[in-house]
Amino acid sequence: MSQFQHINVEVLGKYSSPGPRYTSYPSAPLFSSAYRADHYRQEILRTNSANQASPLSLYVHLPFCDTLCYFCGCTMVITHSRERIAEYNKYLKKEIDLVAPLISPQRRVAQLHWGGGTPSYLSPDEIRDLGTYLAERFRYEADIEAGVEIDPRGLTREHMKAFREAGFNRVSMGVQDFDPRVQEAVNRKQSERITRDAVEWSRELGFKSINIDLIYGLPYQTLEQFEKTVETIIDISPDRLAVFNYAYVPWLKPHQNIIPAETLPSPELKLHIFKRTIERLTGAGYWNIGMDHFAKRSDELAVAQQKKTLYRNFQGYSTKAGCDLYGFGMSAIGHFRDTYHQNTKVLREYYAALDRNSLATVAGYQMNSDDHIRKDVIMRIMCDMEVEKPLIEQRYGIRFDEHFADAMPKLGPLEEDGLVVVEPDRITVNGMGRLVVRNIAMCFDAYIEKMIQEKPIFSKTV
Ligand SMILES: C[S@@+](CC[C@H](N)C(=O)[O-])C[C@H]1O[C@@H](n2cnc3c(N)ncnc32)[C@H](O)[C@@H]1O
Ligand code: SF4
Repeated sequence: MSQFQHINVEVLGKYSSPGPRYTSYPSAPLFSSAYRADHYRQEILRTNSANQASPLSLYVHLPFCDTLCYFCGCTMVITHSRERIAEYNKYLKKEIDLVAPLISPQRRVAQLHWGGGTPSYLSPDEIRDLGTYLAERFRYEADIEAGVEIDPRGLTREHMKAFREAGFNRVSMGVQDFDPRVQEAVNRKQSERITRDAVEWSRELGFKSINIDLIYGLPYQTLEQFEKTVETIIDISPDRLAVFNYAYVPWLKPHQNIIPAETLPSPELKLHIFKRTIERLTGAGYWNIGMDHFAKRSDELAVAQQKKTLYRNFQGYSTKAGCDLYGFGMSAIGHFRDTYHQNTKVLREYYAALDRNSLATVAGYQMNSDDHIRKDVIMRIMCDMEVEKPLIEQRYGIRFDEHFADAMPKLGPLEEDGLVVVEPDRITVNGMGRLVVRNIAMCFDAYIEKMIQEKPIFSKTV
């Protein structure tokens, strides 16, 4: 059965507004700078009290890249200095040494993720070294989900071998677009051959799941040209795909201004491109997971979505719910049941904190009971495309319609446009409503109006 009957670009175009991607709730811009290292340390101690055995998730941020992609929205640092990378790794180890002894030894790591920047910009020896360092300080579950982000440019088979030796079994690689004109405009030349090599090495070395990232909304993209990229990707046949909407945020990432605004496709053309992409990918047997992810139907993400056990975190969609997340490295975010905590995004501040034997936390958030309810509802919308009201009522002892009296009128226009169906016992994202699922989730966000009014933060939803 197709997930989409009909996509009406005119209707969807109305919903182009700034909005969060809901990798967390509340969204990171709401975190408070009053939350510092001592709060984080206390929270680690509190959540690791005697006999704590619940699973962990570890995130390590590796910010360095060789060249700047003009569209980049990630927290990265361009460098050609191998010494700078070695210095950073030394500080990472110091941070690990401050945190690991505070964690209950019974707890095992169910999920490991290295993101960036470009983790594959580390040399194979550095990958092995950091991988061993972590593995010696934490206990990994036998079926750990261990993923790493790589850039096929500059990658060798040795890098992939080192990642396998460091325990990784999933890989995610950036492609964005194969068209030479687009690649030139964004300063990212990447031949099909090197992408195919990266995929072949990953398969040969036994990586269980291979993901490829594409972006729509980049300069000079057209319907026909992006379709060609998608066809090539279908031929390469990754297990998963992320097709991101270009997050254009020049006020946060001034280098994005290098791309002349007039070369960017209009919101309408972007929707046509995404519509065609969905048709091609679902026609080729991929299942649309949430808003921008696709997976082969046999893939555990697709299975989890159908079983309603999918979960969303800072790395996107996942099957592992309920782990405490520890973030290491500059800008890394952690999340325990009731709190979020974020490291400084400024490299020298990160180093200075660790030189004082302090953690580098500069922001955080303490969730209240309403945040928990809203987070649950927003995650169900983003993952299941549906909220069962009685489930939420039982879980939190509330009356759904009363508690969300503020949300219901906001859903009205989306309901009139057929993007969402509101029934007495459930709210369901309908057909092409998936394409504006962020807008649907925003109806349940208690802070969204205030955040949008205060300053420009978020990219456009459409
Ligand atoms: C950390 S990078 C992946 C690894 C490696 N650095 C690379 O680019 O190949 C994560 C992904 O974020 C996506 N990305 C980066 N900037 C973006 C933006 N402004 N809007 C949407 N997606 C973006 C890209 O698809 C990229 O592959
Ligand atoms: S897209 Fe990837 S490789 Fe390019 S600058 Fe951003 S993090 Fe680095």
